[in-house]
Amino acid sequence: MNADALWVNAKLATFDPTVNAPYGLRDGWAIATRGDTIAAILPPDAPELHSFQGPVTDCGGKWITPGFIDCHTHLVWAGSRAPEWELRLAGATYAEIAKRGGGILSTMRALRAASEDELVAVALPRLRALAAEGVTCVEIKSGYGLTTADEPKTLRAAKRVAAEVGVEVSPTLLAAHVVPPEFAGRADDYVSLVCEEMIPAAAEEKLAEAVDVFCESIAFSPAQCERVFRSAKAHGLAIKGHVEQLTNLHGAELVARHGGWSVDHLEYLDDAGVAALAKAGTVAVLLPGAFYFLREKQRPPTESLRAAGVPMAVATDLNDGTSPFASLRLAMNMACVFYGLTPEEALAGVTRNAAKALGRGHRLGTLEVGKQADFLLWDVMHPSQIVFQVGINLLTGRVIRGVQK
Ligand code: NIG
Ligand code: FE
Repeated sequence: MNADALWVNAKLATFDPTVNAPYGLRDGWAIATRGDTIAAILPPDAPELHSFQGPVTDCGGKWITPGFIDCHTHLVWAGSRAPEWELRLAGATYAEIAKRGGGILSTMRALRAASEDELVAVALPRLRALAAEGVTCVEIKSGYGLTTADEPKTLRAAKRVAAEVGVEVSPTLLAAHVVPPEFAGRADDYVSLVCEEMIPAAAEEKLAEAVDVFCESIAFSPAQCERVFRSAKAHGLAIKGHVEQLTNLHGAELVARHGGWSVDHLEYLDDAGVAALAKAGTVAVLLPGAFYFLREKQRPPTESLRAAGVPMAVATDLNDGTSPFASLRLAMNMACVFYGLTPEEALAGVTRNAAKALGRGHRLGTLEVGKQADFLLWDVMHPSQIVFQVGINLLTGRVIRGVQK
């Protein structure tokens, strides 16, 4: 067998859709790696296991999952919105605070004042916390700079933070997050700046692989988002959208029509939106941390999404305004308790479906021969335990690109 290392005697939660068992379980099987790739997945009685000469890790019957992917974060921010949370606890709403120039704009002021080095320093512990729970790939958005200098600064900081922690990154340009104060009353002019300068520059410098928008009554209209998407596609970047979070502007249909990677939030998604996602194969990204923290009442239509076969991912949405929780396990727990996902769906939502949401379904997200050897060793009796409990470290090993960390 042409392999460099073996992990034997494990319960493999493969999430391979062709394995007809809950969690894609291969009970007692082994993983062989070659370089950064899964070279073989072998049953316990495979003769190759006995003749192998290289390093062997005995997993003692414990569980292995694919590496976790947090497919929606805003983890590069500066300042603190904890005082704003106090206002919200006293009765102000997220939208009211945003209208008064707080919210995203307060983070914008702090981020513009910070250097790239300062951003790296404050973001590092956030990504380290995610990685400590098993995140091996993370999406990081800009969206608090909103200028031709501060958006690239954020994306450069995001790449540096990921390199420092040893986690793969999918950087996303979210310049269309909110209209900055310099463009108050001139949203279309700001969209022109995004389309004509920020997107071309991000593509040219390879600072982003996707472009996101906030399609919402307090942010950008569907027509403005569509302009952003056209520019993104013209510059070879993928698209995605924050849609149907606070109201229904039919942003999901728009993203689906443009072949987007994902639509995120979705509390106000309707049946037409669900049908459009199913038809396009766009991933529905659920962000229950924001639903919880904003004390939302309307939850996304997960039953309809499931019935229509729309892939559902789960992410932290880690940000200082609506979801300050650096725990993908907490997000999974909330997805089950608030949104009715099964633990198996929640785990598929941070592995197989999260990989799809980042255009990496061919390379990450499942334990299958030929995929990247990113996997996690867990001290659990059953994978539901990973989702069930929060705050106790259950991870005993991480393998990233074939190397045990
Ligand atoms: O995903 N919805 C818009 N963007 C973020 C919130 C950003 C912020 O409030 O800082 C979100 O919830
Ligand atoms: Fe978000």
